[in-house]
Amino acid sequence: MTNRFFAGLLVVTVVSAQPSLKEAAKGKFLVGAALNEAQFTERSAVEVAIIQRHFNSITPENVMKWEVIHPEPEQYNWTPADRYVDFGTRNHMFVIGHNLVWHQQTPKWVFEGDDGQPASRQLLLERMRRHIHAVVSRYKGRIQGWDVVNEALNEDGTLRQSPWLQIVGEDYVAKAFEFAHEADSTVELYYNDYSLESGAKRRGAIELVRKLRSAGVPIAAIGTQTHIHMTNPTLEQMDQTLTELGQLGIQVMVTELDIDILPQVNHSDQVSAHLEGSTTLNPYAGGLPDDVQAALAKRYGDLFAIFAKHSRTLKRVTFWGVTDANSWLNDWPVRGRTNYPLLFDREGKPKPAFESVMQALKAPAKK
Ligand code: GLA
Repeated sequence: MTNRFFAGLLVVTVVSAQPSLKEAAKGKFLVGAALNEAQFTERSAVEVAIIQRHFNSITPENVMKWEVIHPEPEQYNWTPADRYVDFGTRNHMFVIGHNLVWHQQTPKWVFEGDDGQPASRQLLLERMRRHIHAVVSRYKGRIQGWDVVNEALNEDGTLRQSPWLQIVGEDYVAKAFEFAHEADSTVELYYNDYSLESGAKRRGAIELVRKLRSAGVPIAAIGTQTHIHMTNPTLEQMDQTLTELGQLGIQVMVTELDIDILPQVNHSDQVSAHLEGSTTLNPYAGGLPDDVQAALAKRYGDLFAIFAKHSRTLKRVTFWGVTDANSWLNDWPVRGRTNYPLLFDREGKPKPAFESVMQALKAPAKK
């Protein structure tokens, strides 16, 4: 215990001597991280030290999703979300709310009437309005930006056949923004989605944002999640994506950055890897070989050089997690793998990728 305490103290002292990501990115963009409950309730001193040293924006990994914050029709679970916002306020951070309307992590009752049949348009819109008003107004003035609608698009750029679309119709997206704006007219409102590096989906997102804007919907930014792999998307695709999104006339935000270095799987592989603990699908359980570590560092450096180039429109880069130990990619799309997607290793030490990001951030900001 005493040894662990001193080891922890040592790491915290070491962290406070590190060059800081948010300082290096000053004048370019905010640098954020998605936090879990152990982090914002300060159960891990090392992770808290990293967060305070390197990040000036935070996103809640799960505690504001509908199923957590509003699990039953008349029951809100405010405590974790309150503590998340308190942590951000105490540390003077740009606090993001995530998210209001999504097809996942939303309880079934939301889409059902009392008879268990699909809800009517009117009922679902009323539920959406009440939910958004309750959550957004509770944190009015303390949350600076909300992911209002998450992942409304299919890969081909058309609107996803979610219960929101099926029950409400296409205007559910605009309605969500309208309700959020009613609840807090000063907070920034965002549309957030993944795989926007792929042309068809990006064209769909661009069309959606244009429609919203021409209808007068108050959208402040488009969030591109950027859950990416080692070679896919290419740097050209990343650059092109930020160029095209940057031409929309609103801010651009990289909202959920991580780099999955493990072999990509198809659905049937997932099952066998889980059952057999496959080394083919989990090759670095014993540690990351130097050449792979170096390749990851290069990938991160290249990426941040592109981000720096787009700093006139790119206003925030948020990582989906803090250290490799707590990344969702250890358990998705296959459970129980050992992944290395972030800048800090399992002990919270900066990886070579951290150094390359710092180097890339030294380039002068584009104004
Ligand atoms: C999506 C969501 C996030 C998170 C990630 C993976 O990108 O927007 O909230 O669930 O998936 O964990």
